[in-house]
Amino acid sequence: MNKIAIMGAMPEEIAPILEIVGEYKTTEYAGNVYYEANYKGTDLVVAHSKIGKVFSTLTASSMIQHFGCNKLLFSGVAGGINPSLKIGDLIVATKLSQHDLDITAFGHPMGFVPGGSVFVEADKGLIALSKEVAQELGKTVQEGIIATGDQFVHNQSIKDEIVKNFNADALEMEGGSVAVVCDALNVPFFILRAISDTADTDASFSFDEFMESSAVISAEFVMKMVDKIVSPLNNTK
Ligand code: ADE
Repeated sequence: MNKIAIMGAMPEEIAPILEIVGEYKTTEYAGNVYYEANYKGTDLVVAHSKIGKVFSTLTASSMIQHFGCNKLLFSGVAGGINPSLKIGDLIVATKLSQHDLDITAFGHPMGFVPGGSVFVEADKGLIALSKEVAQELGKTVQEGIIATGDQFVHNQSIKDEIVKNFNADALEMEGGSVAVVCDALNVPFFILRAISDTADTDASFSFDEFMESSAVISAEFVMKMVDKIVSPLNNTK
């Protein structure tokens, strides 16, 4: 049986999800609030982790190890790097990295530490499902590389560095750490982001203006995916 974790980082990223889910029970655990619901016959656990790699690691681990979730979908906003990504556009992560993980002093590439890997790949089945949903909705969803770090990027030279090191299409502050948790615990995961800014000098203003509307775009898409996953016609149970 599926028990699906749906995560965001900020309250605005999960508010539209809770609205669609409607009824839920609230549980506090490890300094965070978890919303448990039965949605169309399938158990869901929804939470916003708070911003950054540490909080998102804690939340993803809790959803899997404490609440027993066996699939994880992340919904939220990102800064666009690839010039083809405009405000409100959706990007599905094919693989994710930690752009600020740096032991290059010892000859390792950026994003690498012994025992880990520069990139963690998202679940191919969930990515395929997102293509089906996009097609049905007549929406364009770009696939690409997402780079994660504990930094709100608003600077061209940092963007350039992230492109050079990871060929990333978008950046944010949680996906790469959630990916590491899910990969280690063998839980299929999917990271979706809608663009709120382009990580340049105007990024904070753009973020303030578009974060909420982009969060809704991402959340509504993720819930369409959840509808498919919980559908009795679906065979990815
Ligand atoms: N999330 C949305 N925009 C971002 C940015 N510019 N940097 C990091 N995370 C983000």
